Amino acid sequence: MLLQDQVVIITGAGAGMGRSMALYFAREGAKIAVVDINVNTAEETVRIIEEKTGSEAVAFGVDVSKAQSVKKLVQTVGERTGRIDIVINCAGLPQAFTPIEDLEEEEWDRLLNVNTKSVFLTAKYAVPYMKKQKKGSILNIASIASERARPGLNAYCASKGAVVVLTKALALELAPYGIRVNAINPGPTNTEMLGKFVPEQDAEPERQKQDIFISSIPLGKLIEPEDIAEAALYLCSKYAEKITGTIFNVDGGRGI
Ligand SMILES: NC(=O)c1ccc[n+]([C@@H]2O[C@H](COP(=O)([O-])OP(=O)(O)OC[C@H]3O[C@@H](n4cnc5c(N)ncnc54)[C@H](O)[C@@H]3O)[C@@H](O)[C@H]2O)c1
Repeated sequence: MLLQDQVVIITGAGAGMGRSMALYFAREGAKIAVVDINVNTAEETVRIIEEKTGSEAVAFGVDVSKAQSVKKLVQTVGERTGRIDIVINCAGLPQAFTPIEDLEEEEWDRLLNVNTKSVFLTAKYAVPYMKKQKKGSILNIASIASERARPGLNAYCASKGAVVVLTKALALELAPYGIRVNAINPGPTNTEMLGKFVPEQDAEPERQKQDIFISSIPLGKLIEPEDIAEAALYLCSKYAEKITGTIFNVDGGRGI
């Protein structure tokens, strides 16, 4: 198995891509800390892992934008297992189409705190474990919106652009310690989130998926959470030992 007994923290693992990554990584023998602000969905992911794999998983209800909560999460996992091998920052919030003049300061802060500050916080608390081990892997789920913006998604695009640059900065900073830092830019992916990028009044998720998103993907199909999980598995495995600072587009060509 690719990740036998490795300790993996996955945020946003109560749904969508995070849940899919948790299952793929557990199938490869990893022990998973399933983190989500919604502890019920995190527990559901743990049940799925227990049913489908022989691996250990524990649910944590954590708001990744809160320093004290992230600190406690990382310390709990570190104390229980003695190590932290992989951190995947997948928790994120969408932004409904909002003209910049209507964007409230609170909404800007909320998006930047959950989508960007969380990447700083998990690194701040997990990197000391990885430095001690002289090995570790951090994977950030950014977005193809960091390369190809969409109108009205101003704060969301900014939050993901910052994740991309932070990924590169940390890759350089942590390379001497054997810690790799990479990001995936998903294209439009078939999860609950996809229907939430449109103005709230015309939210018709299925039509939006078809009209706006599928038509913008050269390969003509939405990305599935499993596509992201397979790329994540590669980037966190021994097969990517020489890969750091990479921004890996899993986007059906949307970024071209
Ligand atoms: N779906 C897409 O089209 C798409 C495209 C590009 C990038 N992304 C990014 O991929 C990641 C996963 O998205 P998804 O499509 O699986 O969405 P999703 O909504 O299905 O899952 C996101 C999860 O994050 C959790 N979460 C939200 N705020 C949190 C917080 N403060 N603390 C802890 N957990 C929190 C949610 O409860 C949810 O379970 C996000 O970062 C998103 O921005 C999504």
